[in-house]
Amino acid sequence: MEEICIINGPNLNLLGKRQPEIYGSLSFDKFFDQLEKIFPDNKIHFFQSNSEGSIIDRIHEFGFSENTGLVLNAAGYSHTSVAIADAVAAVNSPVVEVHISNVFAREDFRHKSLIAPNCVATLSGMGLYGYQAAINFLLQRS
Ligand code: DQA
Repeated sequence: MEEICIINGPNLNLLGKRQPEIYGSLSFDKFFDQLEKIFPDNKIHFFQSNSEGSIIDRIHEFGFSENTGLVLNAAGYSHTSVAIADAVAAVNSPVVEVHISNVFAREDFRHKSLIAPNCVATLSGMGLYGYQAAINFLLQRS
């Protein structure tokens, strides 16, 4: 595994200003700068969309490349989207599901992920560190 693609779903463009008591006060752009310094030898792609179809397109785009692992926080779509779950099942690349918050400590509707069964792992409640942990896992896997 050499390349990583992080895909963030709806409302995660608001990280830093969205419910900071749950999601923290760091923007993803600033966090991404840190990530690139932590993994200088790996190309890390980043994509965020509020649209289900655009997320699926990106999973297709990166999911058939032999040397790429996906880190997916589908946000609210994790709990509702059969189509994103199908896209994860369709691709060859390993996908790690990440949730910044501990979804199991929150409302019942967040306890179910349609995507999780199609992922190699799920991380929840580690804050933004979950993305770093997911990348470490993907890189050591190959
Ligand atoms: C989230 C958890 C989801 O339940 C929520 O809809 C999000 C973010 C997280 O990263 O903790 O938007 O995926």
